Amino acid sequence: MKKILTVLGARPQFIKGAVLSRKIKENKNLTEVIVHTGQHFDKKMSDIFFEEMDIPTPDYNLDINSLSHGAMTGRMIEGIEEIILKEKPDVLMVYGDTNSTIAGALAAKKIGVKVAHVEAGLRSFNMAMPEEVNRILTDRISDLLLCPTQTAIDNLDTEGFKNFNCEIIQTGDIMFDAAIFYASQSANKSTIINDLNLKDNPYVLCTIHRQENTDDPKKLKSIITAINKINKTTKVILPIHPRTKKLLKQHNISCSCEIIDPVGYFDMIELLKNSTLVITDSGGLQKEAYYFQKNSLTLREQTEWVELINNNYSILTGSDGRKIEKAFEKMMDRQSPEIKKELFGDGNSADLMIEALLKL
Ligand code: UD1
Ligand code: UDP
Repeated sequence: MKKILTVLGARPQFIKGAVLSRKIKENKNLTEVIVHTGQHFDKKMSDIFFEEMDIPTPDYNLDINSLSHGAMTGRMIEGIEEIILKEKPDVLMVYGDTNSTIAGALAAKKIGVKVAHVEAGLRSFNMAMPEEVNRILTDRISDLLLCPTQTAIDNLDTEGFKNFNCEIIQTGDIMFDAAIFYASQSANKSTIINDLNLKDNPYVLCTIHRQENTDDPKKLKSIITAINKINKTTKVILPIHPRTKKLLKQHNISCSCEIIDPVGYFDMIELLKNSTLVITDSGGLQKEAYYFQKNSLTLREQTEWVELINNNYSILTGSDGRKIEKAFEKMMDRQSPEIKKELFGDGNSADLMIEALLKL
């Protein structure tokens, strides 16, 4: 029996972790212990996912959040190390590029526990992003690198990973597995379209939370000004991240679109399915727009998911208001995306991950 210690901390990790937890539970040769670092802690950023998506209750919750990068990551490393020493797992599993990801990987590697990284090999090539630092360092100390795309495999090749003692596998994107699995249940579980009176009313779905957009008031204002203009012609629905909510208030930036609390995954899928267009700086939502065959604007200067840009399913706008408005006009005339398996796999990435974990 192989023991996996999974470290989760932020919203997208709960969704990815839900898919793999289900597969681990079905496998007689694997067992899982879950650590929640506490990075995301509001009910609508955390508990809702565990409840709705039937993720096992975490065995440990470190309750570490709302601190500077160093303090948060440092305290997480300390807390996770203690749990590793007690649980003695065979493999520590981390997802994505958050502070919880790098903390888990560092704690394990330093005491000789193997590290498996889901979403390995992604690069924005912007080292000013905390996520880029987290993902590069996590990849470098991982034993099993589970890559979602050919681009991710190529990035690792370029960085010389073939010379390192690690296993690199292309699995496809686990968010695609999640989108397929939970989309079959969302219509029965969510009432959001009726609640917000969106049936037959076109709307744009928008999320903004990335540090590079929210923490610079000029950029945040420029984005919101463009969103306010778009909202005059097509209704914009914005489930708001706590970081963005706090900063809009702090800088006195007023947003005239429909701001709602963060939503659970079933509501999000229904909002995606029924939307006209998606505007986001979220890594996960960029791809989900495509999985539900919606075009998108990516409020970033670069993206790790270059396939969306290269196939004209998304336009990179950064935070420039004029670019956002122009790209919006352009995208409203574009055809809906077509699903191509060669981009992000076929939605069965979790099976490949389980196979690789058993061999590790
Ligand atoms: C983190 C990740 C980011 C990921 C995002 C997913 C890092 C460096 N960043 O960003 O890569 O895209 O999660 O959503 O790990 N807050 C609350 N309640 C919550 C969660 C956060 O009030 O439930 C507040 C925190 O107190 C903090 C701010 O929001 O002031 C930012 O939270 P933090 O976890 O530091 O980063 P995110 O922006 O969520
Ligand atoms: N999401 C959600 N409710 C929300 C906003 C996002 O369920 O109110 C989901 C979204 O559909 C995607 C994931 O959270 O699956 C992405 O998380 P986020 O945008 O916070 O982080 P990122 O992917 O940018 O790291």
